[in-house]
Amino acid sequence: MKDKDQAPEPVVKILFVCLGNICRSPLAQGVFEKQAETASVLELIHIDSAGTHAYHIGELPDPRSMSIASTNNIDLSSQRARKVHETDFETFDYILAMDQDNYANLYADCPEQYRERLHLFLNFAPHLDLKDVPDPYYGGNFGFERVYDLVFEASEGLIKTLLENELADLESLQADSVTDSNSD
Ligand code: 4NP
Repeated sequence: MKDKDQAPEPVVKILFVCLGNICRSPLAQGVFEKQAETASVLELIHIDSAGTHAYHIGELPDPRSMSIASTNNIDLSSQRARKVHETDFETFDYILAMDQDNYANLYADCPEQYRERLHLFLNFAPHLDLKDVPDPYYGGNFGFERVYDLVFEASEGLIKTLLENELADLESLQADSVTDSNSD
């Protein structure tokens, strides 16, 4: 029997990954969540972020990421940094690396059967012809504005991809999710 307050099962699970999980991937998570909400698909997607390294575990996102997010009406304050865990490869359908170093680190740790789940996030914005969301940690605010712009474009591409694939049958998925959340 289902708990009537239980959230419906997500249709697709997405993990954003950078190095420290305080600058780029938390911002990518926040931007993507907002776009998913606007597209009325947020309840169908499980969204998380993580870092390949453990430097900042438990910390809030960097204040510069919080600031550019807040300028765009996105609140990152519920996020805390965590490291990628070996179970993430099995759990998440899309594991999205912010840059090629992050991708190489993920690739090295990922069991072979899950490697097709790994992608460079900017592959979802092919018109940009870029591979990396640059690491803004040691730079100024401009770097964070650039990260925002890049993750915004890639998020739009990712939403479009999901709507053409896992979420293609949107009306019936949304009907199922309403039935799930009403059942006890
Ligand atoms: P992120 O940025 O990978 O986008 O979270 C960084 C955060 C921290 C460090 C480097 C990059 N660090 O060296 O501590």
